[in-house]
Amino acid sequence: MKIRFLLLVLPLCTLWPAEAAVAIANPGGRAAVSLDGKWRTIVDPYENGYYDYRLQPSKDGYFRNARPKDKSELIEYDFDASPALDVPGDWNSQREDLFFYEGTVWYKRSFDYAAKPGTRLLLYFGAANYEAIVYFNGEKLGTHIGGFTPFAFEVTGKVKAKDNFVVVKVDNKRHRDGVPTVNTDWWNYGGLTRDVTLIEVPETYVEDYFVQLQKGSANTVAGWVQLNGARASQRVTVSIPEAKASVDVTTDARGRAEFHFPAKLSLWSPENPKLYDVAIAAETDTVHDRIGFRTIETRGTDILLNGKPVFLRGVSVHEEAPFRAGRAFSVEDARILLGWAKDMGCNFVRLAHYPHNENMLREADRMGMLVWSESPVYWTIDWENPVTFANASNQAAESVARDQNRASIILWSVANETPVSAPRTAFLTRLVEQIRAADPTRLLTAAMEHHSEGATATTNPVVINDPLGAVLDVLGCNEYVGWYDGSPEKIDRTVWSSKYEKPLVMSEFGADALYGLHGEASARFTEEYQEDLFQRQTRMLARIPILRGTTPWVLMDFRSPRRSLPGIQDWFNRKGLVSVRGEKKKAFFVMQEFYRSKAAN
Ligand code: GCU
Repeated sequence: MKIRFLLLVLPLCTLWPAEAAVAIANPGGRAAVSLDGKWRTIVDPYENGYYDYRLQPSKDGYFRNARPKDKSELIEYDFDASPALDVPGDWNSQREDLFFYEGTVWYKRSFDYAAKPGTRLLLYFGAANYEAIVYFNGEKLGTHIGGFTPFAFEVTGKVKAKDNFVVVKVDNKRHRDGVPTVNTDWWNYGGLTRDVTLIEVPETYVEDYFVQLQKGSANTVAGWVQLNGARASQRVTVSIPEAKASVDVTTDARGRAEFHFPAKLSLWSPENPKLYDVAIAAETDTVHDRIGFRTIETRGTDILLNGKPVFLRGVSVHEEAPFRAGRAFSVEDARILLGWAKDMGCNFVRLAHYPHNENMLREADRMGMLVWSESPVYWTIDWENPVTFANASNQAAESVARDQNRASIILWSVANETPVSAPRTAFLTRLVEQIRAADPTRLLTAAMEHHSEGATATTNPVVINDPLGAVLDVLGCNEYVGWYDGSPEKIDRTVWSSKYEKPLVMSEFGADALYGLHGEASARFTEEYQEDLFQRQTRMLARIPILRGTTPWVLMDFRSPRRSLPGIQDWFNRKGLVSVRGEKKKAFFVMQEFYRSKAAN
């Protein structure tokens, strides 16, 4: 027991690999060279490219991208003769023989580069699932753990004019102490799943910034700017030209400055997704970003958007690519998925169960879609393991840092369906406090579970009394009455109560249905069963006094290794309201009607 205690007091950073990692916000707003495209790959289930036969990290591993100097030299791998995979993209949906593959795949990309004087170079990854070890020209840069958040390493001074090579060991093996842990109801797509970019910045650059409305104010912009480089103390002007509003500040010796300034702004909302060009201009670097300004708060059991009560007409969405399946990543993927949600009458999406790609958030900003963003603390992770907490904490920090300027995000969710226990609640409460400290402007939530108070033939009383609810702003609750919990008629006698006078978002409810499979409403997996269940659910939901939002499970069918039923699931969770090809199931129209009536009220 003592050892564990000692570990708990060690500062987080000692538990987490930081190495030469660098931070940079808004990669899309910088000068850059894309490294997307075909990367050579070596599938390495035995990690032969990393360990020697004594399981010691080999100094001659595949990261050397070695080539035999002559016919007598023994080199037993050759990237350039190896198959290529697309980046961004997961390997499971690109190659049939890798469909179920979990393990290591080595990626290699070569490029030439004409150096620019006074320019720093950052090698940026939008995401890599799950563990990525990055090498540049044979030198190890660092390691990143977590499949859904960005990371970058500095390569200034390491880049040659010709034949540079990036080698990345990507390993998507699942770990009991991982985040997520070994079991999930989504496909463990492995690979360099988002853009890879070589970003060019000045010697001292604008590393990060936070520009939002001050908590509780609709006309004061507040935030901070962080510079990175030798010239830490500089004059920085933060301006919103269209609103004729700006402020001049001077960063301190650590390159940081806080600011606030008055601004008369058209507030962002689903009805008015107004984005402003915001400029953060330091003496050595200027970054532009498209930012919306809105306020979000709770008052009793109401959620107020720009001071007005709002009902979150939502749907849960996995980062599964429409039409082709596989890990989604592109602007087009985002537009299609959010477009289908709009067709349903949504003003809100729950992006489950991990931070989705940045294109999704920027499209949500542009299209006017409110967002619930979630950390992959899913089901039963290793609550008392400090390494697991450091991992979850790091992923939450990276997610907030990437998306803190997105108006669309109103809710940070720290977890999904986690079992109530003291270590668990302590773990999640620390995450809530961490995120609140980093971003005081948004609301905190989690997808919790309800507790039955004993169903009878006439009533099914259920209550939301998870202790975690005490530290959240908005209650999230998943329920499967009528699917995992009884049959649909049970929904009609279900009565909800809550220990907390707080707004509730019913974050999951639903049933599997194979598009085109028809039959009795009592026949599972038919569209009629799903339709009937949604008719009963929407009637029940309308009876819950504190309900302020719904995100049925789920917008589109998605792949899951837990769903093998032949001819029906075939490795897909079929709870989508649309199929992978966007075909709308009968239940889709039940939700559409429910949202039409909600929007009218
Ligand atoms: C759970 C879980 C989802 C899962 C869904 C289902 O509630 O949060 O990730 O896919 O139920 O069983 O379909």
